[in-house]
Amino acid sequence: KKMRKKIVAGNWKMNLNLQDGVALAKELNEALAADKPNCDVIICTPFIHLASVAQVLDANVIGLGAENCADKEKGAYTGEVSAEMVKSTGAQYVILGHSERRQYYSETPEILKEKVQLALKNGLKVIFCIGETLEEREANKQNEVVKAELEGSVFNLSEEEFRNIVIAYEPIWAIGTGKTATAEQAEEIHAYIRSIVAEKYGATVADDTTILYGGSCKASNAPELFAKPDIDGGLIGGASLKCADFKGIIDAWK
Ligand code: G3P
Repeated sequence: KKMRKKIVAGNWKMNLNLQDGVALAKELNEALAADKPNCDVIICTPFIHLASVAQVLDANVIGLGAENCADKEKGAYTGEVSAEMVKSTGAQYVILGHSERRQYYSETPEILKEKVQLALKNGLKVIFCIGETLEEREANKQNEVVKAELEGSVFNLSEEEFRNIVIAYEPIWAIGTGKTATAEQAEEIHAYIRSIVAEKYGATVADDTTILYGGSCKASNAPELFAKPDIDGGLIGGASLKCADFKGIIDAWK
């Protein structure tokens, strides 16, 4: 069961200054080198941390990712950071489509499609986030919403390209709210997501696609979530900011 890659990924968001971020990365690397996880572990950090964090991580122990990248290749885009720049720090991943980027920075499906393409072109794997608002959930529109988000930004990819996508289902009403989707609710939509990946790319690709759950995931609820057949790990916000909390979730795979 679950031959596909299991992942626990942290998304630090806009937290931790450089010193604190490097210290946390070091602490995590030591903890996981001493007690090998049963899954892949990735930390996604602000841009400014990447190069320094890369130096204290053993890439065989913890993967590294950015939380965003530009939708342009290079040039006069003041303040932006390209996929190529992210890659050059030693990072292997980038989170794209996070609901906070969609909501607060007006990232549209078209913009995200560009970002995904540039990330893949530069050899980054993409953790692509999808998920519905509370209003949409209450109107029972969650399936439509996640389908449209996948169609809008990643279902244009070739099969070979799509194999570099990790999907993260994050119901917006569960992010940072302390309200987790129940394991049953999450499993239901994860199974649906896998079914539409199968429709598009076939059963083998769908079976190999890692689908993470995100939204108030913590050590106490991770075992129940990860036990579900279509939940392959978590994308962790708040609980990724302390070594013990994050390791508690990683240990849910044991
Ligand atoms: O990307 C992870 C995220 O949005 C979940 O955040 O703080 O609810 O774990 P949090």
